[in-house]
Amino acid sequence: MLIDHIIEQTNNYILNFPKETRKRYGQFFTSKETAIFMCSLFTLDENKQQLKVLDPGAGSGILSCAFVERIVRETRVQSIELICYETDEAILQLLHDNLQYIKDNVAIDFSYEIIHENYILSQADSFNNGIFSEATKKYDFIIANPPYKKINKQAAEAIAMQKVCHGAPNLYFLFASMSLFNLHKAGEMVYIMPRSWTSGAYFQKFREFLFNNMVIEHVHLFESRDKVFDKESVLQETLIVKFKKTTVRPEKIIISSTQSNQDFGDLHTVPVPYDLVVSGTNNYVFLATDSKKIGILRRFAKWKNTLLDLGLRMKTGLIVDFRTRDALRDSYEEGAVPLFYANHIKDGYVEFPITKSGEYVLTERKALLQKNQNYLFVKRFTSKEEKRRLQCGMYFAKDFPQYDLISTQNKINFIDGVTALSECIIRGLYVLFNSTMYDTYYRILNGSTQVNSTEINCMPVPDIEVIKVLGQKLQETSDISSENCDRLMEEYCG
Ligand SMILES: C[S@@+](CC[C@H](N)C(=O)[O-])C[C@H]1O[C@@H](n2cnc3c(N)ncnc32)[C@H](O)[C@@H]1O
Repeated sequence: MLIDHIIEQTNNYILNFPKETRKRYGQFFTSKETAIFMCSLFTLDENKQQLKVLDPGAGSGILSCAFVERIVRETRVQSIELICYETDEAILQLLHDNLQYIKDNVAIDFSYEIIHENYILSQADSFNNGIFSEATKKYDFIIANPPYKKINKQAAEAIAMQKVCHGAPNLYFLFASMSLFNLHKAGEMVYIMPRSWTSGAYFQKFREFLFNNMVIEHVHLFESRDKVFDKESVLQETLIVKFKKTTVRPEKIIISSTQSNQDFGDLHTVPVPYDLVVSGTNNYVFLATDSKKIGILRRFAKWKNTLLDLGLRMKTGLIVDFRTRDALRDSYEEGAVPLFYANHIKDGYVEFPITKSGEYVLTERKALLQKNQNYLFVKRFTSKEEKRRLQCGMYFAKDFPQYDLISTQNKINFIDGVTALSECIIRGLYVLFNSTMYDTYYRILNGSTQVNSTEINCMPVPDIEVIKVLGQKLQETSDISSENCDRLMEEYCG
């Protein structure tokens, strides 16, 4: 196979350019197996004679090579015109040699052009002139492993593509937006990229732009995050996504997953109804990889309320402890109030004090204090190894009658109400958040280890009356284990 030669040349190149050097411009290379898998996702038209293909951020041309090989092997295409963008001067010669190697070894009319320009900046003007602007080149297929690199809001690329930026942008989704622009109508693109864009506020404008102009047909998830770029140890959770430039939603999206990327031998595939995957006004992408998870999405889809609709809201704790050091106290003193950290959440309740440094705060600043009323505390950060993403503790004001006010560190979230919440509602919310169903739903939505309040506030919840029943039943059984919460969910929220 031609790709074996390209991979060999790339491996030699890597020996001379250590990862640290290449990281600066987001350079790491796709493995042979992943490249072949990505190319297998394109729908090739048997009868098409000519194809125009783009590989933005082409590196050594691994993806281009895998795709050209597939086209030549499986179709009667007569001619392929390939365009590669690449900014790294050091790799240009290798890219050129590799593309020439392909040209010399395929029996069709294959032409290539390497554009040694910034993929984003060189097209920014046409991009801003409109999505169907003809002032630029359009392609049938785009394949990419873009640079993954956070950039400053003031970076030239971010300014050039303000339309899709909100907060801190990352080059990978600017590449994907530009590729959307570069596609012909009904054209397809396959991208390997981090999972982060599927939820979260920073990617809101990108998702809106994406889903206003195209659909997802296939998503592939690597269940183990450390094996995708075998030689490169990229630790981001990574997805492969196939998009099509059309607004006609397919009935289903194929979601596949593998435990490793070695040969995609353990590929597990499920079709999932489109509306369960791309859902809500935020266009979040819910990646259910098996029928159990699809079942959970279906159950959530039945609930029309969110926490916000019920007058409830998850908020982030008020105090950044290292910025408030002078107000922190290790033990009680006159006027000080408890400051709750994640360590105070223990086995479903809140334990205080625990002789932890800085667990009291003495301050007059209103923004750092909250009423002493009932809350559900939820840890904001859990480690990758921990079994549950959602870990919560019921906070009851009556356990701390001596205080009018309390405070929370910003590494916990808490659920509050427009009016103070009853103990019964707190117990009911605990049943939801401590159930396997909620934990799984959250994981389907968000691959990171952080619990984000914007996402929680958009999660569907049962009616308030049902939440109260859950609360009563929890108290009656006096068993706050996840197993019991699961049982109560089955019985009262089925
Ligand atoms: C993650 S690497 C992928 C390389 C190759 N596509 C592969 O899959 O093996 C991304 C490539 O994009 C290039 N790059 C970074 N910023 C770029 C830009 N603004 N325009 C064009 N290429 C860029 C880097 O030099 C790097 O070679």
